[in-house]
Parts: sequence; C-alpha cells; structure tokens
Amino acid sequence: MNITRAIQLQKYTTLKVGGVAEYFVEVTTTKELSDAVSYAKEQNLAITILGGGSNVLVSDSGIKGLTIHMQLKGISQVALDDTVFVTAEAGEALDALVAYTVEHELWGIENLSHIPGSVGATPVQNVGAYGVEVADSIEQVTVFNCETHAIEILSNRECAFAYRHSLFKTEAGKKYIVVSVTFKLQQVPYRQLSYKDLQIYFANNPMPTLLEIREAIIQIRAGKFPNWHEVGTAGSFFKNPVVTVEELTTLLKKYPTIPSYIVDANHIKLSLGWILDNVLHLKGYKKGCIETYKNQALVLVAHEGATATEVELFANEIVEKIKSEINILIEWEVTKLK
Ligand code: EPU
Repeated sequence: MNITRAIQLQKYTTLKVGGVAEYFVEVTTTKELSDAVSYAKEQNLAITILGGGSNVLVSDSGIKGLTIHMQLKGISQVALDDTVFVTAEAGEALDALVAYTVEHELWGIENLSHIPGSVGATPVQNVGAYGVEVADSIEQVTVFNCETHAIEILSNRECAFAYRHSLFKTEAGKKYIVVSVTFKLQQVPYRQLSYKDLQIYFANNPMPTLLEIREAIIQIRAGKFPNWHEVGTAGSFFKNPVVTVEELTTLLKKYPTIPSYIVDANHIKLSLGWILDNVLHLKGYKKGCIETYKNQALVLVAHEGATATEVELFANEIVEKIKSEINILIEWEVTKLK
C-alpha cells in the first residue's frame, strides 16, 4: 500500500479547483481497500472516497484524513436468455462501461453516454440523463462494509434509490464503499426515447440502433455541456427542485410555461435550468472566474485560476437568488469534500 501525503487533487476532479489530500492512496483490489480502511482506523483518519471526481468540490483547504482513490477495474458479463448481467468494477469510467454495452449490443444504459465519472459513483447519487437513471437497470451493488470488512451484496431495493439519491447518501449507508455494480441489460431492443431532445433528434427515425442512440446523446450533450477536459465543470451543479402540486399551481400562475415532470401523486420536479434562464436571466452570468454555462444555466463553469471558495460563493448566491425570487430552497447536486 502506497500512502502518500499532500497530494494536489485538482487533476482528480472535473471542476479542477481546491487543495490537497492530507493522505492519499490508490486501491486496485478489495484487499488494498481493506488495508487502506484499517490504516485510516489505526491512525484515526476520516475516510473520503474519490471516484471520477466529476461531482465534487474539493475545498481550498483540501481534504482532511485519508482520500481513497478507487481504481478497481474490470467488466464481465453473464447471460441468462435475453437478459445479460454486466458487472463493472467501481474504478471503471461510466462511459467505458456504456461503450462496452453498446459494442456488445446490450440495451439499457446507452442514454447515459458521455457522462463523466466512475461506475462506483453511479449508485450513490443515482446518476441519470435523457430519461434514464442507473436505478432503472441496476440489479445489485457489491459493497465493502467498513465496520465488518466484509463484502456484501445489496439489491436494487436495498439501495433505496430516488432522484439523485440513495441509501449511500444517508447515515445508514455511510459504512459502505461501492466496489462493483451489476447492471441488468437486454439483448432485445429496448429504446428509451421519450426525452424531448431525443424525440426531436429521432423524429424521422423511430427505430434507431444502439450506436445511433449513443451518437445522438453524445451530440446533444456536446451542445449543452462544456468540454470538461478544457474547463472546470461538474455538470448540473444543483438538483432540480421537487415541489408539491400546490406549490406548482402557484408558480404556474406566474410562469405558465415552466417545464415540470411528475415524480409521484403529490410531487413535481421543476427544471431549475429553465428557471435560472427564463425567470432570473442568469444564463451566462459571470463573476470573476465562475459563470453559468452559456448553453445550460444549471451548469457552472470554473475557468482557470478559480478557487473552490469562489465556486461556493457563486453557488450560494444563486441559491439565495432563487430563494428570494420564487421561494424555493434549492440543493447542490455537487458534494463538497473537506
Ligand atoms: N432549459 C432552459 N434554459 C437553460 C437550461 C434548461 O430553458 O439554460 C430548459 C430546457 O430547454 C428544458 C428544461 O429546461 O426544457 C430541462 O433542461 P435539460 O433537458 O437540459 O435538463 P436539466 O433538467 O437541466 C437534467 C439533469 C442532467 C441531465 C439532463 C438531461 C439534473 C440536476 N440534471 O438537466 O444531469 O444530463 O437532465 O437528461 O437532474 C447532472 O446531473 O450532472 C446532469 C448533467
């Protein structure tokens, strides 16, 4: 085990801001993970798990304790009639997994093409895009239990998935580290084209192939998101707010065209990007090195020279603006690490 100190974390995150990890280790096997957790316990260090770093804001003062960078790799599959169970280790890039499934003609997660980040992070915040969430096709999640050091298997139901939420975000789930995720995919075509952007794209091609869908998603995303290889970004910085039917009714009186999606009988999800753009006119709003993206107001961009503090102040300003304009308390989708 090679534990190092004071490792600069900017290159490990897509926002590319923030300080150093007090202690840092890369793990490639569950044995190494177990050893790293033992070391943290012995030294009384807090543990932070780092995957692809695409949804985190590392504070300028860095991360205290031991940061464990998950580097377990591998993708395997088991077929059962038309269903194929594909297991990817936590350190695989999500997009490498999606590319693999498209190559092997397996349907289910192609709409998640080109999302940055690692497989291990996907169940934690129930990653989703273009009408699909990982919760729709996760069969089971294999976890390392930090209390017992045992490997356990959690079923989809046990993961308690919700919109950008799961067991792993709760107190009860904090003891688990995701080591691999098994997806249940289909060999027979199963197209998920209900999202508005896809309906428009495939208006003249109702039966696209898997590869055509992947290419469509890549093209649609390229128009909406900045290239994270070039600038600092974490995709959507905030969650879309979920409101009650009553709250929506009040909002609709003032903003009749606000896009909304049904969550359950009593709850509606609103498009915060639309609100930031059309109600607060904050698309492309810039302060110092931080701005809301010119093509998608829900996406924050941190330009070279930005600090984590600047990102945080900018994000908090937006939270306050939304609160005072439409009286909704929005939440960060991005996790702050310190
Ligand atoms: N809109 C605007 N102006 C904007 C942004 C959006 O008018 O500046 C409108 C769009 O035209 C559309 C609606 O708002 O009618 C929703 O926008 P979009 O389809 O881009 O999706 P979103 O709700 O803003 C969510 C996810 C994204 C995911 C997209 C596509 C969240 C927080 N974000 O964004 O996920 O890629 O849908 O499915 O749920 C992420 O979580 O990091 C992420 C990128």
